[in-house]
Amino acid sequence: MSRPAITINLPEFRILSDVASVAQAVADHVVSALCVKPSLTLGLATGKTFVPVYARLVQKYRQDGMLLAKAVTFNLDEYVGIAAEHPASYRTYMRTHLFEPVGLPPDQTFLPGVEQEIEQGCTAFEDEIRQRRGIDLQLLGIGRNGHIGFNEPGSPFDSRTREVRLAPSTLEANIRDFPDGEVVPPSAVTMGIGTILDAREIIMVATGQAKAEAVARAFETSPDLVCPASALQLHPRVTVYCDEAAAGLLTSAACAFSA
Ligand code: GLP
Repeated sequence: MSRPAITINLPEFRILSDVASVAQAVADHVVSALCVKPSLTLGLATGKTFVPVYARLVQKYRQDGMLLAKAVTFNLDEYVGIAAEHPASYRTYMRTHLFEPVGLPPDQTFLPGVEQEIEQGCTAFEDEIRQRRGIDLQLLGIGRNGHIGFNEPGSPFDSRTREVRLAPSTLEANIRDFPDGEVVPPSAVTMGIGTILDAREIIMVATGQAKAEAVARAFETSPDLVCPASALQLHPRVTVYCDEAAAGLLTSAACAFSA
């Protein structure tokens, strides 16, 4: 029996010289989307990659004061079992790097997995996205093992928001956020890959040589569950922003699309 046809899309690559240029270009992209639609539903990512991006959005807010005033945000993921106030929680990260500096009130920001009843919380999170008519623009980082959000290798491409176990390599990579001998929570709640692919537009950001292998695997091999980010080839509107180090293993064919 023949398989149903799937459409593979090459993203638009923007390869820039360094982290600062990538952060500025991504922030400009978000600001342009907000100019077109001030009530944008914006999907947000965390991690080191996005710290300079949010810093530039905050800078922009300080210049014109209106940025994000009408926007609603949905974060990709959060650890299970740590308090909102924990320094490594993604609620603390978002409050510190974006929500408080731009004055985004809590009723405009949603993070998954923050309720006591995780399953109900996941359903409520998906319902909230649906009620807002879906995510307009989703920001994504990429893990060294190719994860997006906390969708680890093996995650189904049609998965929805749910609790997941973190891969050993993710626990190892994220230990830097849990100093003083604390252990990284073994599980998290993440938007599913299906939830991510429902967004109307997606921006992926990767910086640093440590991401080069994951970036190449995501876009230069056929979509495969072993590399969750390769699911982005099934989406028609993806822009990948990389610095030269993260783009280092892309072939010239892919780089032909760079800015
Ligand atoms: C974390 C997050 C991801 C993030 C990725 C990369 O584990 N769950 O959403 O994209 O890993 O993080 P960093 O930017 O710190 O490399």
